[in-house]
Amino acid sequence: MSENLIIFNARIVTPIGFSARKGEEMSQLQIIENGTVEVTKGIITYVGENRGEDRDGYYQHYWHYNARGHCLLPGFVDSHTHFVFGGERSEEFSWRLKGESYMSIMERGGGIASTVKATRKMNFLKLRSTAESFLKKMSTMGVTTVEGKSGYGLDRETELLQLKIMRSLNNDEHKRVDIVSTFLGAHALPGEYKGKSEEYKERGDDYIDFLIREMLPVIRENELAECCDVFCEQGVFSIEQSRRLLRAAKDQGFLLKLHADEIVSLGGAELAAELGTLSADHLLHASDAGIRAMADTGVVATLLPLTAFALKEPYARGREMIDAGCAVALATDLNPGSCFSGSIPLTIALACIYMKLSVEETITALTLNGAAALHRADRIGSIEVGKQGDFVVLNSANYHILPYYIGMNSVIMTIKGGMLYPVN
Ligand code: NIG
Ligand code: FE
Repeated sequence: MSENLIIFNARIVTPIGFSARKGEEMSQLQIIENGTVEVTKGIITYVGENRGEDRDGYYQHYWHYNARGHCLLPGFVDSHTHFVFGGERSEEFSWRLKGESYMSIMERGGGIASTVKATRKMNFLKLRSTAESFLKKMSTMGVTTVEGKSGYGLDRETELLQLKIMRSLNNDEHKRVDIVSTFLGAHALPGEYKGKSEEYKERGDDYIDFLIREMLPVIRENELAECCDVFCEQGVFSIEQSRRLLRAAKDQGFLLKLHADEIVSLGGAELAAELGTLSADHLLHASDAGIRAMADTGVVATLLPLTAFALKEPYARGREMIDAGCAVALATDLNPGSCFSGSIPLTIALACIYMKLSVEETITALTLNGAAALHRADRIGSIEVGKQGDFVVLNSANYHILPYYIGMNSVIMTIKGGMLYPVN
């Protein structure tokens, strides 16, 4: 659905551009006091100062929204989540509180494998309705585009099911959030589920072959995912396996993403630069050389501070990455294991407090650079003519409220394609 809408008396705060902003550019925002934005059939057709009286009655076919001086920002882009899954892992969280590590739980068959078991038991409608409820929560925090990954099926049927659910949610004409789907079949090795012939315990190379030969073609043919991602990590998929899968995915027309250097420094950032992925994500342990390589090649460094927080790990070196000339994006990583939170307000606070991003950089990271991490910077991520009418309205004329409101929501209205969704 798309609408005609005039927003007036807004304090418009936005990055500018149709590609990722790197380094110092990240702090350059355009601010228009007493601004007006015109949205026609869901697309921005005017951005500027208030235009005065509507003498020609031109706007009689538009909805009117008086922003009363509040900040109007581009809709937030959450460019890394795993929001389609079955079950929950609260017990595992308690084990971690007692000192067990994320990887040791995974090694003994918990972690991702436990969500795989639960997801395989779910049907389309049940999985879809829990996923839909996450989308509603995201929308209330200002998210207008989200990336969602498969990776909790690890077999043909359930991987396709997850992707079909995202397609169905994205085709809903009342949707509040656009979805970009990513195939993450290489999330873990299937193998803990006895009695199933297709399992690949301790046969990582064979599993990669299966993904390349049997999964990627059917996903492309049915346009079920735009991107392909790998959990490249010690004890999960190696650099060589990740390279092989992503090269094949690129040949088959996928855009690439990579879970890189999350738990140990493996050279994931360097691999992302070598392959020209859209983004490298996590990067808690990215090396100096990896950071330089991302800056040189324009790979978006997608940082997920909620995961570091939940795992009690050191935060990614966001400040250094920007100073080195990287384009940094921020996302939540919402998933049932390492980070069961899709909190945009807390993501913003952690980015500013612990990764030392300025508020301006944080806004760019959550809008235009998030869009670039999804190959959508030409369509979303800033308030400019020709882009989608996706916005958030804050409860203040001062955008510095964003990190100051620690973990609390300062969004009072999410606007999607010109449609108003008040947050109450
Ligand atoms: O991004 N690291 C791999 N994947 C997720 C965690 C998934 C899970 O624990 O279920 C992440 O942190
Ligand atoms: Fe992830």
